[in-house]
Amino acid sequence: MNVAIEVNGIKIADDIEPDTTLFEFLRGHGFKSVKCGCETTNCGLCTVWLDEEPVLSCATFAARVDGRRVTTLEGLQAESAALARCIAEEGAEQCGFCAPGLVMSVLALERAYRAAGHAPTPAEVDHYLAGNLCRCTGYMSQRRAIDRYLAECFDYFTAPDLFAPVDPVACAADAGKEA
Ligand code: FES
Ligand code: FES
Repeated sequence: MNVAIEVNGIKIADDIEPDTTLFEFLRGHGFKSVKCGCETTNCGLCTVWLDEEPVLSCATFAARVDGRRVTTLEGLQAESAALARCIAEEGAEQCGFCAPGLVMSVLALERAYRAAGHAPTPAEVDHYLAGNLCRCTGYMSQRRAIDRYLAECFDYFTAPDLFAPVDPVACAADAGKEA
């Protein structure tokens, strides 16, 4: 069957089998940032955006994407640079296999909360990224990198309780002043 899918702004037409997954379609057309870790919707490695919403490409038929827009990490090189820097600064990458899927999810999270007009809470970050697994890092360094990145994206004024370090001495002094 014939499909035409816009990937990173370029329309790609192909004759595919009906059961071709979006993952297979993308890899077959050279988008090697898209990785497969499980094929069972459990790891998040294959995350791409479909019309700017994150989807698991291993569980999406390419035929269902006909005529729609797909974004992979190759299409977000400039947008992902600051997050990549935070990941490097926090030493949050070991084998790096999970990184493309994680980056796609974090950038989608950022866009979603920008559109909502506020920063995500820590619990919302955990919930949003629950589907992105990493076998190496234990998540703590990844989470520091993500928190650092989000703190840069959402200024402290709009999210003072999330990212500003709490200084107990200053808090006590403030409390004294008010009293
Ligand atoms: S490869 Fe798609 S979720 Fe694991
Ligand atoms: S760094 Fe190896 S799987 Fe995440």
